Amino acid sequence: MKVAVLGFAVACLLVSGSAFASEELAKKNCMVCHQLDKVGLGPSFQDVSKKYAADKDGEAKIMAVVKNGSKGVTGEGKVMAPMANVNEADAKSIAAWVLSLSAAKK
Ligand code: HEC
Repeated sequence: MKVAVLGFAVACLLVSGSAFASEELAKKNCMVCHQLDKVGLGPSFQDVSKKYAADKDGEAKIMAVVKNGSKGVTGEGKVMAPMANVNEADAKSIAAWVLSLSAAKK
């Protein structure tokens, strides 16, 4: 019984694929401060998505913010520290997921 339940869970994970994994990464690493559709400590990911979706370097720019942090862009005194615990591959997958938020709305 337990094995069957576990097998089902693994199958779900495989089927839902990488968008799900990216969202989980974002939840774990970013969504303490960022919310999907509301301004929290940081701007909402939907706003971030809209801002960078039109930019061909959008993904790289989001990755750069994750790596280097950001200061004063969205308001005076707003600071995001560099996220040293997020590796490049994870940053890329999160950035692609953030960009997909506004692409889905079009
Ligand atoms: C400790 C809180 C915190 C965490 C954790 C955090 N951020 Fe931020 N983030 C902020 C704040 C505050 C700002 C606004 C900085 C500014 O105005 O310059 C920001 C800004 C940004 C921006 C720039 C928005 C713009 O308009 O240029 C991006 C992109 C971003 N965050 C992505 C992420 C991603 C992706 C993660 C997870 C890997 C993450 N953030 C984790 C607080 C956080």
